[in-house]
Amino acid sequence: MDYTRENFSFKFKKTLRYLKLYGPNRTFVKIKGQYHMNKSFDKLPQNKTNKNTKKHVGILGCGNYSYSVISHYLKKNYGKTIRGAMDIEINRSASIFKDFNLDYYTANSNEIIEDPQIDLIYIASNHYTHAEYAIDALNNDKSVHIEKPHVVNESQLERLIHAMKKSKGKVRVGFNRPASRFGKLIENYLRKEDGSTMINWFVAGHEINPDHWYFHDKEGGRILGNLCHWTDFCYRMISEENRYPLRIIPSRSEKADCDISITYVFGDGSIATITFSAKGHTFEGVREKLNLHKGNTLISMDDYETMRVDVVDKKKVYKNIFRDHGHELSIKESYELVSKNNEGESIKYIYETADLFLKTKDALETQKEITIKPYEESQLY
Ligand SMILES: NC(=O)c1ccc[n+]([C@@H]2O[C@H](COP(=O)([O-])OP(=O)(O)OC[C@H]3O[C@@H](n4cnc5c(N)ncnc54)[C@H](O)[C@@H]3O)[C@@H](O)[C@H]2O)c1
Repeated sequence: MDYTRENFSFKFKKTLRYLKLYGPNRTFVKIKGQYHMNKSFDKLPQNKTNKNTKKHVGILGCGNYSYSVISHYLKKNYGKTIRGAMDIEINRSASIFKDFNLDYYTANSNEIIEDPQIDLIYIASNHYTHAEYAIDALNNDKSVHIEKPHVVNESQLERLIHAMKKSKGKVRVGFNRPASRFGKLIENYLRKEDGSTMINWFVAGHEINPDHWYFHDKEGGRILGNLCHWTDFCYRMISEENRYPLRIIPSRSEKADCDISITYVFGDGSIATITFSAKGHTFEGVREKLNLHKGNTLISMDDYETMRVDVVDKKKVYKNIFRDHGHELSIKESYELVSKNNEGESIKYIYETADLFLKTKDALETQKEITIKPYEESQLY
């Protein structure tokens, strides 16, 4: 939805609601991000010819997320660190260049990927190009933050893993929710308990027009574009030795990627269900509720605003002043790839979390149960 085209009353109410939910800074950059998307320069700005720069980050894909999350949090935490930005829509890369004080902007991805001053690239373009750009960047020994989903098919997954094996570059995927305050708390609570886990997500997805690029051939639709956040979160909530074999049981009606429910039965008997509803407009964006039970711990979490945890007789209620989906920490963790502080994701993780969302899509499309196995070095990839 293009909020810039809505009437004043809608924009006013939306701004007030977002101020309450996200605070003034985040709301301001979200509004700027909306205008950034429609920016059209009468005369494009001049690139700088700065060879002795300390800026070392590149961006591929300069849409809303790159503007209001990636560029915003990089600037907030590290100052002027982005050197170059690329988008096939030149006005967008020029807009990021101008607003975040970059050295250059371009419509040619190779300029960023082959730039010797750049050692880290954030990829936030259309889904089909994520893996292709990441493979090229890894072949040039750059580290990459790949926005979700990191692949849209098995051939990309195989080639991405091959590139990771040969490269000095490291990889992180933009699954931000586990990096949130509540995500970290949930991880800690689960670690203290033994036995199987019951996980139940209810997610109301934000409205996406049927002609949006998410639904174009090759892009993977909403299972790869949205649901992968929760398939990944479920995967991480179950410890490594307990995950497999993992049964994927689909339920759907008309559509294969909206208004669906998917159940996972893990190797240790843990069960996770994700119900994904996508119908009308959700004024506050994606809404999500989690209920979880493991050992003596019961967790109930609402929209990253409040979380209640009961452990036997002890009850604790956590509240965030503003919604925290973990975006800022996720961008920072990827920035640490180029220092010694973050080794990046393992090949096993990159394979297994992708295998889960790809096979979830298959299960929903074919309406058949699928069982998956863990990554083993000896297999196909
Ligand atoms: N982690 C999160 O919570 C989160 C939230 C929103 C979006 N995202 C991800 O960020 C990415 C971008 O999403 P968005 O919301 O900014 O979408 P968007 O439509 O605002 O931006 C996508 C941009 O990619 C550009 N593009 C298209 N084809 C390209 C190509 N071949 N090379 C380079 N650029 C190309 C488009 O011109 C556009 O500017 C997607 O992968 C999306 O899934 C993540």
